Amino acid sequence: MTNQPLWHGRFANKTNDDAFALNASISFDIRMAEQDVRGSIAWAEAIYKADVITAAEHTQIQAGLLQIEQEILSQAFTVKPDDEDIHSAVERRLGEIIGTLSGKLHTGRSRNDQVATDFRLWMLDHIPALDAALVDLQSALVERAEEDFDTIMPGYTHLQRAQPILLSQWWLSHYPPLKRDQARLQELSRRVAILPLGCGALAGCPYPVDRVALSEKLGFAKPAMNSLDAVSNRDFAAEFLFVAAMIGTHLSKLAEQIILFTSAEFGFFELDDAYSTGSSLMPQKKNADPFELTRGKAGTLLGYLTGLMATLKGLPSTYDKDLQEDKVPVFAAFDTLIAMLPVIAGALRTLTVKPARMEAAIDTNMMATDLADYLVERGVPFREAHAISGEVVRAGIDKQKALDELTLEEYKEINAVFDKDVYAVYDARESIAKRAAIGGTAPDAVKAQIVRAKRELTSKN
Ligand code: ARG
Repeated sequence: MTNQPLWHGRFANKTNDDAFALNASISFDIRMAEQDVRGSIAWAEAIYKADVITAAEHTQIQAGLLQIEQEILSQAFTVKPDDEDIHSAVERRLGEIIGTLSGKLHTGRSRNDQVATDFRLWMLDHIPALDAALVDLQSALVERAEEDFDTIMPGYTHLQRAQPILLSQWWLSHYPPLKRDQARLQELSRRVAILPLGCGALAGCPYPVDRVALSEKLGFAKPAMNSLDAVSNRDFAAEFLFVAAMIGTHLSKLAEQIILFTSAEFGFFELDDAYSTGSSLMPQKKNADPFELTRGKAGTLLGYLTGLMATLKGLPSTYDKDLQEDKVPVFAAFDTLIAMLPVIAGALRTLTVKPARMEAAIDTNMMATDLADYLVERGVPFREAHAISGEVVRAGIDKQKALDELTLEEYKEINAVFDKDVYAVYDARESIAKRAAIGGTAPDAVKAQIVRAKRELTSKN
């Protein structure tokens, strides 16, 4: 006997097969099977306490649901061709186990409040894995910052050599963005933990269910306050996708720099063989594929966000089937990040740094600001000092000399304030050590960042 849809009564004829396939969401909402059963167990208790079903009925329904839960956990739960979605599949299975009594479970409930509840439960169940993956990547960055503490490198703005920095300062520059993403996830969790169940299809539940108890039972903070909003609210899905897109953007920024730094032109890093790939044609190639994919997937993650926002934008209040489009992008964004984050962490932990190449890329022009500061120390106003330092740079370019190769006479020709101690300015480590204010690249300031990051990583929140 074929299984009938939950809504068969009003229909004389069967749904067209292609229309059924288009309508069905089981292929993806099967991922919420566990949550669907958990929600149903709580609902069965709520309607029992509201005197909708008897104690005996409740016991039977609960036993059936617990059996389904076991089947799901042991992967024995199977989907049938006529199962429209996970909610129908669980109810169908409950019928197979306990018979017609299963028909009482859905009393006072709609798939509208049910699906919104399942989806929120799913998100609350999965945010911790994402959080842990973010923490691990943050740890990898801090480990590198400690390991590469002695290495100096050019810092860039506009991708032009700007000022020397510690490589550790660069590693740590990728830590706070991920920390912010983690905070965003935690804040989002609070908004996810609002319970739609007990709002019915749209207008609320006609039975005296205790939604506060239901909310506590399912681990939510409180029940949603308005039924029309509760069944249509997908802010949490959009916010999740925003956080995912933001993480993607942060990872892409890191990836873009790693790709550049592993090129022969930079030669700052070499990826471990385990985290790079070759070319089918050019035997010498070693490509930074994981990072290129990271950069590429950042675009896809942004697409998931804009796609869902476009869907939500056209909708009136309450449930519309368009909302079924919410799950695929959220699952895909989650899968993408869960696949990507550990690979990035592994690639960072295993890459080889080329300190000599990095140091050699620092040229004396990068200390032109220090040269201006040298003049400032001798009483020249900064604006003027900036212009004089610029003239020195121009003289170096004209004479094809590094700034420490210009003679003292050549310096004095530009400005009489220059003296023989000017050459000390071109010590890159000195330049770095001067930037000691909080957040700067001076070794002590970087150490302070490491200490703080490690404290954050070991504390629970
Ligand atoms: N599969 C649906 C979804 O994911 C479940 C809700 C169906 N509700 C309805 N009124 N047809 O949104």
